[in-house]
Formats: sequence, C-alpha cells, structure tokens
Amino acid sequence: MIKILNLKKQYGERTVLNIPELTVNKGETVVVVGPNGSGKSTLLRILAGILSKTDGEVLADGEIYYMPQQSIPFSKSVKENILFSAKDSKEIEKRCDDILSELSLSHLANKKAKKLSGGECQRLALGRIIINQCDFLLLDEPTSAMDIEGTEIIESVIKKYKQETGCGILMTTHSPKQAKNLADRVIMLHEGQIAEQGSPDELLSNPQTNWGKKFIDMWKIDT
Ligand SMILES: Nc1ncnc2c1ncn2[C@@H]1O[C@H](COP(=O)(O)OP(=O)(O)OP(=O)(O)O)[C@@H](O)[C@H]1O
Ligand SMILES: [Mg+2]
Repeated sequence: MIKILNLKKQYGERTVLNIPELTVNKGETVVVVGPNGSGKSTLLRILAGILSKTDGEVLADGEIYYMPQQSIPFSKSVKENILFSAKDSKEIEKRCDDILSELSLSHLANKKAKKLSGGECQRLALGRIIINQCDFLLLDEPTSAMDIEGTEIIESVIKKYKQETGCGILMTTHSPKQAKNLADRVIMLHEGQIAEQGSPDELLSNPQTNWGKKFIDMWKIDT
C-alpha cells in the first residue's frame, strides 16, 4: 500500500498541500478530483519522488510508476520508445506489439515519436509505463489530450492493466464520467486539502460540504 501521513507542501508561506492521512491499497483505484491549482499534480509528484515534501511521511511497499500531466517522448520511434522503457526483455517484441495495438498506435509504430499529436503522445506515454509490471500506477490526467475514442481506449487499457497486475492506481481527472467509470474511491481536493472522499456514486451525487456541492454542480453542466 501507499500511505501518507501529515503530508505538507509549502512554497514560501503558502501551503499548497496538507493531507493528514491517505492510503491507497493494491487493487484499488483512487481518483483525485478538484479545480486547477488544488494540488492534484503536487500530490502525485511527491509520491513519484520527483518533488520534495515540506513535511510528513510517505510509505510505499511496492514499485511505483508515474505518468506526468505532460509527457515528453524520447527522440526515437514510437515502438522504440516503448521497448526502451521495458525493464524485462522476455517476450518483449510481442508485448510491445500488443500494447501498440491496444493503444491504437500500431500504424504509427515506426514514426518519430516527437512528431506525434498531443493525444497520440499521451497514449504512447501510457504504453511506456504498462510495458512493465508495477505495484502502483500514478496517472496525472491521463486523458487530458484525448478525443472521445482515445479516452475510451485509455480507460479500457487502464482497467485491463489493473485486472492483470492487481496494482493500485492513484489518478487525477477533470472528467466526472471518468471518475465514475474507473474509481473505487473518489477524493475531492480543495486548496490542497481533502474536502470529501467516498464512493463515486456517494460523492458525485450527494456531496456533503457546501464547497463540494458547488464543485459538483459545476461538473454537472459538463455531463
Ligand atoms: N514551483 C512552484 N512555486 C510556487 N507555487 C507552485 C509551484 N508549483 C506549483 N505551485 C502551485 O501549487 C498549486 C498546486 O499546483 P498543482 O499543479 O498541484 O495543481 P493541480 O491541482 O494539479 O492543477 P491542474 O488541474 O491545473 O493540473 C498551484 O496553485 C500552483 O500554482
Ligand atoms: Mg495538475
């Protein structure tokens, strides 16, 4: 599991993250929602070990893979990007071809990755991660650049990877539909703090706080 205790991130006097306690178990998908600047990426970046925390503890008993909000491909072909990211060489060609197919990238396999569109690049970023087995996936808005079909592809690939590996997932989204579709638990972040958390049905249809109600009302315009 990943366990967070009294986690704080400050920039100067400003606290952008303050989470007394949060646990993500293996086999569980936790979706973090909240407005721009609420601390979603900060949380994932600290857990991924690429941003230092100001205070608190992060405990993790497994290997963590992280897909940032904006991924930069290596200067290689699409297929080479995935092969290059693989830690294990066993049946690697076949696994790579399967992933390219699952992500609808087979036709672009030999294209330079730097020339991909934003949505294609995001699919490749996921491919570079799921070529490996891990205990926890951190996905920061994995479908932000996707059209409707691309979103469905990514969501089904995430579900399949979780089913096959039993990993735990902590991901962020601005899509209520995605939260409903993927989450076992939804966490609502507001100004760096957990405002509410619960099952997607509970939280999205019946928020408890005034702020949560306002946030969900704005979201409903979108559904
Ligand atoms: N290096 C920095 N110095 C000062 N403030 C920062 C720095 N990095 C991030 N912040 C602030 O921390 C807050 C949280 O940022 P974060 O990127 O975690 O938000 P977010 O919830 O991921 O937003 P978005 O939905 O736009 O991706 C923001 O107000 C941001 O301006
Ligand atoms: Mg973010």
